[in-house]
Amino acid sequence: MGSYAPEDYTKTLESISAQVRDAIRQLPHFSDLNHDETSPIFRPAGEEDLARIRELAVPTQTRTVEEVIGEMNDIYSFRTRVGHPRFLTAVPSVATPASWLGDALTSAFNTFSGVWRGGPGIATIELELIAWLAAQIGLPSSAGGLFVSGGSVANLTAMTAARDHILKQDDRSKGIIYFSDQTHFCVPKALRILGFFENQMRKIPSDKTFCMDVAKLEEAIIADKNQGLVPFLIVANCGTTNTGAIDHMDEIADLAHEHNMWMHVDGAYGASVALSGQYRSLVAGLRRADSVAWDAHKWLFQTFGCAITLVRDRKHLAESFTLSGDFLQDIASGEDQPNLFNYGIELTRPARHMRLWFSLRVLGADTIAQMIDHGFLVAAAAEAKLAILQHWKITSPARLSTVTFRFCPEGMEENAADQLNGIISTDALQQNIAMIHTTQVNGRTSLRICTINPLTTVACMEQIIEQLHAIACKSALEL
Ligand SMILES: Cc1ncc(COP(=O)(O)O)c(C=O)c1O
Repeated sequence: MGSYAPEDYTKTLESISAQVRDAIRQLPHFSDLNHDETSPIFRPAGEEDLARIRELAVPTQTRTVEEVIGEMNDIYSFRTRVGHPRFLTAVPSVATPASWLGDALTSAFNTFSGVWRGGPGIATIELELIAWLAAQIGLPSSAGGLFVSGGSVANLTAMTAARDHILKQDDRSKGIIYFSDQTHFCVPKALRILGFFENQMRKIPSDKTFCMDVAKLEEAIIADKNQGLVPFLIVANCGTTNTGAIDHMDEIADLAHEHNMWMHVDGAYGASVALSGQYRSLVAGLRRADSVAWDAHKWLFQTFGCAITLVRDRKHLAESFTLSGDFLQDIASGEDQPNLFNYGIELTRPARHMRLWFSLRVLGADTIAQMIDHGFLVAAAAEAKLAILQHWKITSPARLSTVTFRFCPEGMEENAADQLNGIISTDALQQNIAMIHTTQVNGRTSLRICTINPLTTVACMEQIIEQLHAIACKSALEL
């Protein structure tokens, strides 16, 4: 390898900068922020495509920025378009162009957001935004938190604070955690990371509406206490992934209070409803939480990698996460100007919040509220449409923006109907009608839609249901 003089490096950087400037001018040409309904929801990669992409993976000779952008377009062309109006699976991530731009600019500034000195301006915005979000869900002014990469890490961060605040060190092996059988798997995963074993986790059955059965929760807590165990944490759901259920947060908070436990709420999906115009009362129970996990990259329309951990009392995060090194002695800071690495897992962290700030400044909170309300409207329209078509059973009604349903003609065996609904899902994608995955509801296969995309109109949704119906009737005859 030849030696590389500083002047060569400067020349290379200048050349790259000029090319990047050219590329930015062409942005509208290669960015695909606008998903029209006819674009492919999913483009699979064949063997030949993958072989070509494998060749691109490792560095060989240098290329121009334009050439590499071309390669990138090729690589990204094989993907699921999660912002497509007909992508209705999982909890879609529908990043607004404002979020995308805020994210891209944040990346360009590349600030070190773990410490106050990395950027007092962005740190101030993060603290103020956290305070604003906490106020939206009714937490007191003692509340605090920080932006993290996603719901999984938000849950992990909050539950670390719960463990450290409530459980005495000697009680760790006796500590018991409670959550419903509808809880996202990232919760038990986080508990594993925190050092708890399966036999310390209680999966409480849910009721007919898929909410945690609070009477059963209470029974389990009392039974464990009688065994000399230490119940310390209840995880409630504010919007389950499967059916959009919201646990009875007020009743759960009362129980938590009575037994000196911590109530954490997984609001990765549903907490955003606190910003809704019409539906915020549905999530009023969030005000009782000791901590909340909230994904901005779901129903706040942000690019991936943007979530929030909130705690009722910010000192609980500081108690769990404060540690430092000699090399950081010059950047020690007080409570007013905190180093946010002391609130969470990461030291080096990007300014994840700036894209949300950018979106809120550009769009305004009222527009975001209307975009959230739209998700409710489309889910209700889907349910209403299904109700007037033959052979469809609503297996869980529209809640938040989620509905589950199953095609099951009279006389058809349940196992055959399971198979049929799988076929409907596969065919709908093959025909580019919609991406709608199946799930299990009450032990049977259902189709599940989540309608948070503001680009999915009611008319589009009704058309999708009609198209699903046509596939279902045809496939039922062929089965
Ligand atoms: C209710 C719920 N909790 C947690 C998660 C995990 O969040 P993330 O994928 O952002 O880590 C999700 C979705 O993925 C979710 O729907």
